[in-house]
Amino acid sequence: MAGAEERARKAGDVRAWLRGLDVFAGPLPSFDPEESPDDPVELFVTWLQRAVQDGVPEPHAMTLSTVDAEGRPWARVLILKNLDAAGWQFAVHGLSPKGRQLADRPQAALTFHWPRQGRQVRVRGPVTAEPAERSAEDFLARSPGARAEALLGRQSGPVGDLAERDAAMARSLGRVEREPGLVAEEWTLYTLAPVEVEFWQADPGRNHTRLSFARTPTGWERRLLWP
Ligand SMILES: Cc1cc2nc3c(=O)[nH]c(=O)nc-3n(C[C@H](O)[C@H](O)[C@H](O)COP(=O)(O)O)c2cc1C
Repeated sequence: MAGAEERARKAGDVRAWLRGLDVFAGPLPSFDPEESPDDPVELFVTWLQRAVQDGVPEPHAMTLSTVDAEGRPWARVLILKNLDAAGWQFAVHGLSPKGRQLADRPQAALTFHWPRQGRQVRVRGPVTAEPAERSAEDFLARSPGARAEALLGRQSGPVGDLAERDAAMARSLGRVEREPGLVAEEWTLYTLAPVEVEFWQADPGRNHTRLSFARTPTGWERRLLWP
C-alpha cells in the first residue's frame, strides 16, 4: 500500500512538474498566411532557413511516421536529404523496420518541429523509391561511420552486448576503408510526394495560425484551419 501511495505521489509530482514547463515561450515570429507564397515547398524552405538562422539544433531532423502491414503506426526521427518540386527526400535501409514498412505500405507522414519559432510543419503523401543509382549516390555521400553502420544491415535487431556491436562496427569500418565504393544494396532513397502540407505557427495566447495546402489536379488549394 505504501508503495502504491509513493508511486501516486511521484506521479502527481511529475504532472505538476510537466505543467510548470514552458511552451511557446517566445518571442515568436509572426506568420501572415496572406503574405505566404502559393507553393508550400517555397514556404517550407523559408521556414527551414529561419530555423537555421536562429540556431535550431538539427533543423533538418523530422519525425517519419509509417504504418506496418497490420496497420500499426510507427515513428522515428530521420534527417531530411533533399527537397524539390517532386517532394521531400529521405533514405532508409530496406531491411530496417521502417524500410520494410515503406515497402509494404508506401505512404508516410513527416513532422518537423522548430521550437524556437513555435513552428510545426506536417507533410503527408505516397512515397516512391528512387532508382538504385540515386540511392547509391546518397549512400556514398554519407560519412564512413554511417556507411559502416548501414553495411551491417542489422538496424533495430537485438544485439547481445556493446562489445559485439563495437567489434562488428570496427570490422565494417575496415571494409569501408578498404573498399570506399562499397554500397549497401538495400539502401533506398525515397521521395514523399506531398498530398497535404500544413504550416502551424504557435501563438502564446493559443490563437495559433494554421495554413494547409492540399494537392489538386491543377495545383494547390489553400485553407486556414482552426487552432
Ligand atoms: C536527430 C536524429 C537523426 C537520425 N537520423 C537518422 C537517419 O538519417 N537514418 C536512420 O536510419 N536513422 C536515423 N536516426 C535513428 C532513427 O530515429 C531510428 O532509431 C532508426 O532509424 C531505426 O528506426 P526503425 O527501427 O523504425 O527502422 C536518427 C535519430 C535522431 C534522434
